[in-house]
Amino acid sequence: MIRKIAILASGSGSNAENIIRYFAKNKTFVFPIIISNNKNAYVHKRAKELCINSLTLELKDESDWLVLRDILIRQQIDYVILAGFLLKIPLVILNLFPNKIINIHPALLPKFGGKGMYGNRVHQAVCAAGETETGITIHYVTENYDEGDVIFQAKCAVSPTDTPEDVAKKVHALEYEWFPKIIEKIWG
Ligand code: GAR
Repeated sequence: MIRKIAILASGSGSNAENIIRYFAKNKTFVFPIIISNNKNAYVHKRAKELCINSLTLELKDESDWLVLRDILIRQQIDYVILAGFLLKIPLVILNLFPNKIINIHPALLPKFGGKGMYGNRVHQAVCAAGETETGITIHYVTENYDEGDVIFQAKCAVSPTDTPEDVAKKVHALEYEWFPKIIEKIWG
């Protein structure tokens, strides 16, 4: 069985690239398209290098989301991955992919989640709170930010001298190690 997976990404796209490289030799996982809400996102450059189609949809109003829905239907997409994607997913998409959209969050939810909590802001908040550990959460996506059922978490230590950049490095390492493996486990 072939699983067709769309990746949504707003920024650098290092997770998107890592996932696509991980499955490069596995012909049962295919990635027909990367969609970004940001035309300047570095993920487009990565997509080009990887020979994956990427396109920009601003996703500002409902008609944009309907365009996205039509693209996902036309491409016969089975699953959707949010890899550094910063917009809330509306019901018009969620209903089409019940429990088939997952997100990665760079902290141990329910800590440091919700609106405005993304990327380095999360690591800054973790350091400011004096946390001794942080990590990653892979979860199903619902209408609300960072609230769906948790699929997997992994932890790393935070020391008092760690900067947000140090924390980001540790968290990215966990993301690169675990996100593809968990995708393979739940959809394989
Ligand atoms: C990742 O650390 C991901 O966990 C985070 O954005 C980063 C994207 O990096 N996602 C969120 O903060 C979602 N709330 P990437 O573009 O290099 O994959």
